[in-house]
Amino acid sequence: MKSNVLLLGPGPCNPSQKVMESLSEPTLGHMDSEFINLVEETKTNLRSVFRTQNRVTFPISGTGSAGMEFLLVNFIEPGDKIVVAVNGVFGGRVANLAKRMGAEVIEVVQDWGRAMDNEAFIDVIKREEPKITAIVNAETSTGVYQSMEGIGEAVHEVGGLLMIDCVTSLAGMPVEIDRWGVDMAFSGTQKCLSVPPGLSPVTLSERAIEVFKSRKSPVPSFYLDLEQLLMYVDGSGGRSYHHTPPVNMIYGLHASLIEILDEGLEARWQRHATAAAYLIEEMTPFGFTPFVPEAERLNPLTTLSFPEGFKDAEMRQKIRSDHNIEVGAGLGPMAGKIWRIGLMGNNAAPSSVDQLVEALKKTLS
Ligand SMILES: Cc1ncc(COP(=O)(O)O)c(C=O)c1O
Repeated sequence: MKSNVLLLGPGPCNPSQKVMESLSEPTLGHMDSEFINLVEETKTNLRSVFRTQNRVTFPISGTGSAGMEFLLVNFIEPGDKIVVAVNGVFGGRVANLAKRMGAEVIEVVQDWGRAMDNEAFIDVIKREEPKITAIVNAETSTGVYQSMEGIGEAVHEVGGLLMIDCVTSLAGMPVEIDRWGVDMAFSGTQKCLSVPPGLSPVTLSERAIEVFKSRKSPVPSFYLDLEQLLMYVDGSGGRSYHHTPPVNMIYGLHASLIEILDEGLEARWQRHATAAAYLIEEMTPFGFTPFVPEAERLNPLTTLSFPEGFKDAEMRQKIRSDHNIEVGAGLGPMAGKIWRIGLMGNNAAPSSVDQLVEALKKTLS
């Protein structure tokens, strides 16, 4: 039996009881009509959570990184130009993958802990006229939420496609695929969707599908090939087999989406905002200070700088071993400088903060 840990790191978070129960329901065959109906309901509910009418909206079998790779491998051909916003680990990862795929990558760099300056970013898009513009909506390495103002319009003005990473924002903060003019987006189940890790919901606009159809070279991946995947997931090949989807994981996502839509997206965003504000209020007396300016904070994942002389690793270990609570360390260049505290999905509640504060008090004394 595994320890029952309160997961307040950068994800995964703790799924609800209902989601955990759904995972252990009897496994069905992936061609079974009962399962196909469940996949269709999952797609419909994902559209609501992504705030999109996009026909092509479904979960990729794999974690968030698989969703990132799926989008890039289907839309990049060698020599294509991509502009990538880099203000943390995950923007850097998009740039890295795009280079591996032979793209001409233009990185627009911003200080870690700050959002991209939209006007300056838009100037680059207009100057470079890339095929793809990629930006991280929720940078989990720094705790920054990116405003999308004006970006979709600029991307479409130059005839390109807008790609976003909303792994840590989907179902925790506003993600407005259609309103923002996003053409391709990917997320992950283990954050605010409150399902264990293992699926990456994606959505693609009709504009993106048209660009995909004009590819000159074959997609250099079989597992992630959009056309092949659609034969099963969209029924465009009469539901022909491509790979065996992780059936029980889809039960989990299906159950969670119902809970999310029952709660209401706006109410859920507000719950995440309230929990994050309460966390900052409660951590301030210990000498922690927010790493990100207020207007740019990612509510599901708060980053806090330490007080003087704070023993980062030792404190995290003690809180885990003595109180069964996980908090996240800094990632990449932020290692040893900040804590990343996730209040995601079901954990976005004052009771999570109270438990952490109590554990911190006891550990410090
Ligand atoms: C913003 C962001 N993008 C991509 C990923 C990659 O997702 P995964 O670790 O599920 O592969 C993560 C994971 O934390 C993330 O936070």
